[in-house]
Amino acid sequence: MLKPSLRWAVFVSGTGSNLNALLDARPEADVALVVSSTPKAYALVRARRAGIPTWIIPQPYDWDTIHRQLLDHCIDRVFLAGFMKIVPPDFVNRWREKIVNVHPSLLPAYPGLKSIRRAYDEHQPLGVTVHGVIAEMDAGPHLLQRKVESRACADFESAEFMVHLAEHRLVRESVRRCRSEATSS
Ligand code: GRF
Repeated sequence: MLKPSLRWAVFVSGTGSNLNALLDARPEADVALVVSSTPKAYALVRARRAGIPTWIIPQPYDWDTIHRQLLDHCIDRVFLAGFMKIVPPDFVNRWREKIVNVHPSLLPAYPGLKSIRRAYDEHQPLGVTVHGVIAEMDAGPHLLQRKVESRACADFESAEFMVHLAEHRLVRESVRRCRSEATSS
């Protein structure tokens, strides 16, 4: 018999299209909490519409409080899905091997901001990586990585759209993979 799903906390800062992809993967992806760095994130609207508990990180940031909030919600895994804050090493260590990030490039190429734009302008391959989070930003072991075929794209906007679609597929696949790894161990 399958063990219950992993309970995910999804960390967001923006529109939450990756959160939406995870919500679409329910019940395999059990999104138990949405944590936002800002009250303005549209991701919060998506979460509330889906009936998912939300929590806006109070200022000033206290990562002990964030950790306790996750424990209070019995969270098993953390997904950084467009979360635009640096996660400090202490928190990463507490959630070692239980925290993943989606990044819109073929890491280690183009870490940081504007990855799609930079890769596109330099005529480099586009893609998406879901990786385990370590103290260094946009680094850590790759869980899944996929190249995006963008040669047929007429302009940057359509290439960017293709990358975002690939992100949504990959975040869904990665929660499924985490679940099957957790249930088989
Ligand atoms: C995504 O491209 C994500 O990989 C990047 O920021 C964007 C956020 O998208 N870090 P969304 O908020 O999930 O729509």
